[in-house]
Amino acid sequence: MNSYQKLLLSNRAWAAEQIVDDPDYFARLARIQRPEFLWIGCSDSRVPENQITGTLPGEMFVHRNIANLVVNTDLNLLTVLEYAVVYLEVRHIIVCGHYGCGGVRAAMSRHSFGLIDAWLRNIKDVYRLHEGEFAAIGDDDARCSRLVERSVMEQVLNLSKTTVIQRAWQGHQRPHLHGWVYGLGDGLLRPLCDVKPGGEISEIYRYDDL
Ligand code: CO
Repeated sequence: MNSYQKLLLSNRAWAAEQIVDDPDYFARLARIQRPEFLWIGCSDSRVPENQITGTLPGEMFVHRNIANLVVNTDLNLLTVLEYAVVYLEVRHIIVCGHYGCGGVRAAMSRHSFGLIDAWLRNIKDVYRLHEGEFAAIGDDDARCSRLVERSVMEQVLNLSKTTVIQRAWQGHQRPHLHGWVYGLGDGLLRPLCDVKPGGEISEIYRYDDL
């Protein structure tokens, strides 16, 4: 049997299992989704958001890209963000990075990897913002881990710069923004930073007429 055929077989077993104790399971999920969380994570296959947070289908709206970036020209992310905030009314947005992120490591190097160079430029910009701090870290892995953390904090800040978030904060006192890092080596999530609704943001990014 091919590997992809195993996926289809596993799916049949899983679907059957769900309705053993709860015959209404799929009918209920099909009717409505009301997730409380939007997850913005890395595409890395080792960071499956539902599994590591013990959440079930219907509990988390998800956007994943390489190195979990919040880029203000990314129509895909902005669409997900607006839909989650305005229509699904999520209460929490979690930006989750992870140690050992290949995207962050690539951004730290001086190699060109093709199209992705333009994407990773956003991480190089974070590096430049804290160049002094990084220069003081001698070890390559430690510097990469710190860049993972700094980038997550920057992406949370990027969320708060958007009109989608600022408008929601004015009208509804939500969502609450969170920056987390996941450890591939121990399976643990570490909270890094959080911004409550209406939280501090530099004047220059604030819109007074939303
Ligand atoms: Co990654």
